[in-house]
Amino acid sequence: MTQPWAVRPETAADRAAVRRVVTEAFPTPAEADLVDALRADPAWLPGLSWVATGPGGEIAGHALLTRCRIAEPGGRAGDAVALAPVAVRPARQRTGAGTAVVGAALDAARRAGETLAVVLGDPAYYPRFGFVPASRFGVRAPFEVPADALMALPLRDGPVPAGTIRYPAPFGV
Ligand SMILES: CC(C)(COP(=O)(O)OP(=O)(O)OC[C@H]1O[C@@H](n2cnc3c(N)ncnc32)[C@H](O)[C@@H]1OP(=O)(O)O)[C@@H](O)C(=O)NCCC(=O)NCCS
Repeated sequence: MTQPWAVRPETAADRAAVRRVVTEAFPTPAEADLVDALRADPAWLPGLSWVATGPGGEIAGHALLTRCRIAEPGGRAGDAVALAPVAVRPARQRTGAGTAVVGAALDAARRAGETLAVVLGDPAYYPRFGFVPASRFGVRAPFEVPADALMALPLRDGPVPAGTIRYPAPFGV
């Protein structure tokens, strides 16, 4: 059942709880390790790591946007933000926490003047936020992906960068 979720940017005090949520949501600790590595990377964008909290203030969901670049080979590179990972505690999934925390993180990116968000994920989930196939903008992944799994969302009016995504180093791609 969908319920209202409070959302806010993460604070330094949330790090352990975020790690627990991300660890629980995925089969291996790889995504939790990725979040911790991104926190120590220049790609980390203060204010764009968001949490959804339950009635007692406990963290149930997390969404992270970090800096990536998009460039044509030999051409100009433009800034974008990569949405990854998104995690909701299994016991709280399908109650609206993911929708609330992803929406809030994207709104914060809009307020910060970001141009474009990209996500590699389930094409059944992300269109609710306005994501469309990234190919519409000439945006490609640096590896083979199913065409509809790479999605992009312009965050303001005007041109968006085209080309291949360069993910932050901790993604290891
Ligand atoms: C994917 C995830 C973040 C969604 O968060 P959530 O809080 O469970 O989702 P919400 O409650 O906001 O949204 C529920 C809706 O999304 C759909 N949905 C949930 N998870 C989905 C998934 N993996 N694929 C497709 N649709 C999904 C539900 O069918 C539901 O649809 P409805 O609103 O039409 O009823 C969460 O399930 C999760 O953490 N999964 C494990 C980790 C993961 O796969 N993360 C995403 C890749 S980085």
